[in-house]
Amino acid sequence: MKFTIVGAGSSYTPELLEEMAVRRDSLPVKEIVLYDIDENRLNIMHGFCERFAKKLNLDVKIRATLDLDDALYGADFVDTQIRVGLNAQRVVDEKIPLKYGLVGQETTGAGGMMKAFRTIPVMLNVAERMEKLAPSGWIINYTNPTGLVTEAVTRYTNANIAGFCSGGIFPKMWAKSSMGIEYDRVQYDYVGLNHMNFISNITIDGRPITQEEFDKLAETNGEVNPELSRLLGVLSSPYLQYYYHTTKKVNSLLAAPKTRGEYVQELEKEVYDAYADPNNADKPAALAKRGGGGYSEVAMNFVNAVYNNIDTEMVVNVPNNGAVSFLPDTAVVEIPCLVNKRGMAPIHVGKVPEMCWGLIAAVKNYEQLAVEAAVEGSVDKMKWALLAHPLVREYELVEKLVPELLEANKAYLPQFKL
Ligand code: G6P
Repeated sequence: MKFTIVGAGSSYTPELLEEMAVRRDSLPVKEIVLYDIDENRLNIMHGFCERFAKKLNLDVKIRATLDLDDALYGADFVDTQIRVGLNAQRVVDEKIPLKYGLVGQETTGAGGMMKAFRTIPVMLNVAERMEKLAPSGWIINYTNPTGLVTEAVTRYTNANIAGFCSGGIFPKMWAKSSMGIEYDRVQYDYVGLNHMNFISNITIDGRPITQEEFDKLAETNGEVNPELSRLLGVLSSPYLQYYYHTTKKVNSLLAAPKTRGEYVQELEKEVYDAYADPNNADKPAALAKRGGGGYSEVAMNFVNAVYNNIDTEMVVNVPNNGAVSFLPDTAVVEIPCLVNKRGMAPIHVGKVPEMCWGLIAAVKNYEQLAVEAAVEGSVDKMKWALLAHPLVREYELVEKLVPELLEANKAYLPQFKL
């Protein structure tokens, strides 16, 4: 198996190796190709991965390349984890909306839209090269915003892509950390979009959970008020905090000494110093302070399901095609799918909790317009997208935000001809 990592300079790369080591008996990964556009980070990561693989007793050839076609050619799986403009641009995404009293966040609101604008052209290029160089291979996408990236790739190319987020296993993680219950004992209905999803009908060993167990899960989620979760009777993605607690959230973002992106920049330095140390073969402790933990587990679970043709239920970002009755077929939704060698088949999602419809529909409306704006380089569609977004919506704000956001991102938006 050839496994390629696009954006291999990401701090998370070693976690993929770790997961490969756990599954070494069932997944014969022969070659790992590390690709990045940053030669320095690529070399550091390559050195560390060699040491880490040795420590894990992972018998695999690891090589690094700056040539995308070389990386993609004949790949069975291509994990994409890029951050166009790095965390410096993330900080810009966080700060501009906040100036106007709006949520400033990596994937949510106007900032998340700019991340999508920077990322979609680069990801479409990767997907188009995949179509030519590895037409039966799979893109496993972790690049944020994963819902919009997956929608762009599925609407505009024929590449195989599965869009993931560690959020799909959050209820399992919450059950494990609060009650010590193993993942495979916990099942649930899951519906919505990436970072806009709702979890209901939760069972443990097939029996409905008790109110006490529900409360424990809601408290472990924490970001959304547990009392609110009780009132709704469903658990929500932690990102619903930006919708259900908007004023409180904006105030706390304004009061914070630094943004999450600024904090992550400091963490990255610590993590990378550890990776660069030629005597170090251990995963840096600071990595545990990042939010993306668990994603390698999901990624390799997908590889296992496809490669070994093992029917596996997984939450994936896929084109709707009727699964959620009130959304267009092309809309990418985050729902449970049956995964095996044939790919992904959405599982009927059941009843969508009625108090969640409006938010899901509005945010999908924004997402579809944002994807089109990103591809067409259309300023008008960019404005439509923001007008449709429940966290922006006001015309006067949109007119102020748009020129500022475009100016701050112009180095990364060739499609907008600025
Ligand atoms: C969660 C989200 C990811 C996001 C990450 C941010 O895992 O699901 O979409 O990328 O948090 O973590 P960070 O450490 O970069 O703030």
